Amino acid sequence: MAREFTTIGVVGLGTMGAGIAEVFARSGFRVVGVEQNDDWLARGRGHLEHSTDRAVKRGKLSEGEQRELFDRITFTTALADLKDADLVVEAVPEHLDLKRQIFAELDAIVPETSILATNTSSLSVTEISVATHHPARVAGMHFFNPAPVLKLVEVVRTVVTDPAVVADVESIARRVGKTPVVIGDKAGFIANKLLFGYLNHAVSMYEGKYATREDIDAAMRLGCGLPMGPLALLDLIGLDTAYEILDTMYRQSRDRLHAPAPILKQMVTAGLRGRKTGRGFYAYEAPDSPTVVPDALTPPNGEPEDAPDPGERVRTVGVVGSGTMAVGIIEVFARAGYDVVYVARGTEKVGRVRAAVERSLDKSVLRGKIEEANRDDALGRLTGSPSLDDLSDCDLVVEAVVEELSVKQALFATFDEICKPGSVLATTTSSLPVVELAMATSRPADVVGLHFFNPAPSMRLVEVVRTVATADETAATALAVCHRLEKHPVVCGDRAGFIVNALLFPYLNDAVKMLDANYASADDIDNAMKVGCGYPMGPFELLDVVGLDVALAIQRTLYQEFREPGFAPAPLLEHLVTAGYLGRKAGRGFHDYGDRLTSAASH
Ligand SMILES: NC(=O)c1ccc[n+]([C@@H]2O[C@H](COP(=O)([O-])OP(=O)(O)OC[C@H]3O[C@@H](n4cnc5c(N)ncnc54)[C@H](O)[C@@H]3O)[C@@H](O)[C@H]2O)c1
Repeated sequence: MAREFTTIGVVGLGTMGAGIAEVFARSGFRVVGVEQNDDWLARGRGHLEHSTDRAVKRGKLSEGEQRELFDRITFTTALADLKDADLVVEAVPEHLDLKRQIFAELDAIVPETSILATNTSSLSVTEISVATHHPARVAGMHFFNPAPVLKLVEVVRTVVTDPAVVADVESIARRVGKTPVVIGDKAGFIANKLLFGYLNHAVSMYEGKYATREDIDAAMRLGCGLPMGPLALLDLIGLDTAYEILDTMYRQSRDRLHAPAPILKQMVTAGLRGRKTGRGFYAYEAPDSPTVVPDALTPPNGEPEDAPDPGERVRTVGVVGSGTMAVGIIEVFARAGYDVVYVARGTEKVGRVRAAVERSLDKSVLRGKIEEANRDDALGRLTGSPSLDDLSDCDLVVEAVVEELSVKQALFATFDEICKPGSVLATTTSSLPVVELAMATSRPADVVGLHFFNPAPSMRLVEVVRTVATADETAATALAVCHRLEKHPVVCGDRAGFIVNALLFPYLNDAVKMLDANYASADDIDNAMKVGCGYPMGPFELLDVVGLDVALAIQRTLYQEFREPGFAPAPLLEHLVTAGYLGRKAGRGFHDYGDRLTSAASH
């Protein structure tokens, strides 16, 4: 029979503990919240007040309900006040000794039948449990930040946790509206194991000045649909907590990708711990405030009024190619009012490209996104040609042909002969070095990467890639043009994967390695990332959409460029590609797209 829970203890009312106390109190449980001293207790109470005030303002909680919620919570500094708790969730800082000491004390305070749970993100639940005389009643109950919002709870079972305890923890998680996933005791569990390698990589990019914090964050939000960029998320998590999690993961995995980026330690030491101290990667209005305020690193807002607009020099745009990206890019430029000369190989292809642009514009009209007149104007601005010679007068040429270096190099050599002096030459390559294309011309200063995302008409992100030879003026023109297209440009250097793919694909590859290690099923991993981190798709769903062959090719490029052992393609990914399980396009990848949607890769 399921156990009755009446009183829940929460130890530590910081970023996580306050949220966890709120979750239980909202569901009608009596909560005893314990802090280390009166100051911290007041602060913990403040967290709960802020959070429930916000809920009241948004109409999600009435003032009466807020009062009742507080009536159900006892705030105390005495661990002994947990003597009647049926379940205690510990959420103190991520230090093993501290947690072990608290568990040893709790063991002597609560009744023998009570359950003790830790919210640790990375420490060994087993090591914490053996600090008690009853390790069978200890489990992990890992909530996600912000606890009142995110639904995932990872329930961590050690080799000695009583199965009845696991079932009871699962059941109470469901009662407070959460989605529990039961897993074994391994640093980082599912979600953090996949999340923190990626977050750490983003910090290294920032530390190496590869791109600005704003651009790194915007790239992941707009390029992958993530709810927050990695640096903003680290500020929310707390840089001290993130450092401890990475450090523990590194000690267990010895994977260099988990070794905390040096700047993290420096920032923590300097007191820049994220939102909780009002400063982290960004500056906030006040400690614990979510509102970002400008600081010395904030980019200036817009150009001075009298400055010439570098985008002015572009009126006519050439687009070369006949695939999905070329068609989308032609549409984007024509809709934004540019005259577009598009070149495809042969008159038949030229006709097909035009038909594809027409179809797409028609769809936009049907969906009410544009007027019929806009469509006709856009179509009126298109000139198709089978000859590259017709690009001679273009101010900007964007190449979107097949992803092969020799083909693109030959094309850039031809642009060099044909295009008028001063025209900007752009490539939309997603994995080739832009500088290799620049050096195929006699004017590398005019060459830049313009990496659009698919589908180009609806994805706002464009990565503007500067090589070591790109002139400032060329980059400024590319940026100004992106703004006119109503895109969100981010600037990065000429490295494999730019920003988005370099951060995304190693994470996907890590998910494949986790599956191959039989730690969790594809569905559990997909769910953990969706429900725990608010990702729009799980890694396996995304891999099946992208195509496993495409993912493998990108991962190989990243591995070859960075020589990072952790970037080596997962053997399972290679095998699935060899077997022809390429994802949706093949009807089977990690999931089977026959009549049943089941995991194909459970083995
Ligand atoms: N921050 C996140 O996003 C996140 C997400 C999931 C899990 N976690 C885990 O949750 C735990 C807490 O992390 P956090 O981010 O809330 O940290 P935090 O620093 O925001 O809060 C920790 C709180 O514990 C209190 N505390 C310290 N010693 C205590 C003691 N002896 N008795 C009672 N209270 C004590 C502190 O005063 C502080 O208020 C960690 O194990 C962390 O890994 C964090």
